[in-house]
Amino acid sequence: MPYSIAIDGPAGAGKSTIAKALAKSLGYYYVDTGALYRGLAFGLLQKGVPFQNEKAVEEEIKGIHVELLYENGVQKVLCNGVDCSAFIRTSEIGEGASVISQYASVREKLLDLQRNVARQHSCVMDGRDIGSVVLPDANKKFFLTASPEVRARRRTLEFQQKGESANYESVLEEVKKRDERDMSRAVAPLKQVEDAVLIDSSDLNIEEVVDKMLAYCVGSEA
Ligand code: DC
Repeated sequence: MPYSIAIDGPAGAGKSTIAKALAKSLGYYYVDTGALYRGLAFGLLQKGVPFQNEKAVEEEIKGIHVELLYENGVQKVLCNGVDCSAFIRTSEIGEGASVISQYASVREKLLDLQRNVARQHSCVMDGRDIGSVVLPDANKKFFLTASPEVRARRRTLEFQQKGESANYESVLEEVKKRDERDMSRAVAPLKQVEDAVLIDSSDLNIEEVVDKMLAYCVGSEA
């Protein structure tokens, strides 16, 4: 039986870096579910569909096929057969993914895709609703967070390292807006489920968080 670890939390808490490192040390697949929402947003942007138009999004996503592919353990996102992984990390796509992730039609379309990976492989899956909706029976659940200021600082640095211009104040605004939207949406909102272990990464480095998580997994089948 594959083993599954769910990591949920707000944008910029370090979920992907941590989940990737944890998966590596356990020899599991790392599943970045945000990439699927971003892949759909990418497809919609290419078609010129406004993210805010729920009806149009619902209609147009019927013609957009997103899937996850693993090459040497590295996740790739395909949008209608084309690898779009390199184009989905912009703030425009992040914002679009956050907007369309409010729609039931979008969440429904991506649900089985995510569950199928966990059915086939032991994995560390990160997102917003993994412990609550996608894998409610996950073997271990974590809720990883950090203060909005710390998350905005990390994001700003990330953008700058990629050579994109980023201003801390506007990134902080964006982080807060995204939190509000991700936590208040009607369908599968971001929340800490009762059986998730809360970890605040504000004052911890990557290694410390991974060690903490590994310690929680010791003694179980992981
Ligand atoms: O983790 P990320 O920033 O790549 O995710 C982009 C957006 O996708 C995020 O703002 C909310 C949405 N998302 C979601 O609703 N559920 C998930 N499991 C993963 C992401």
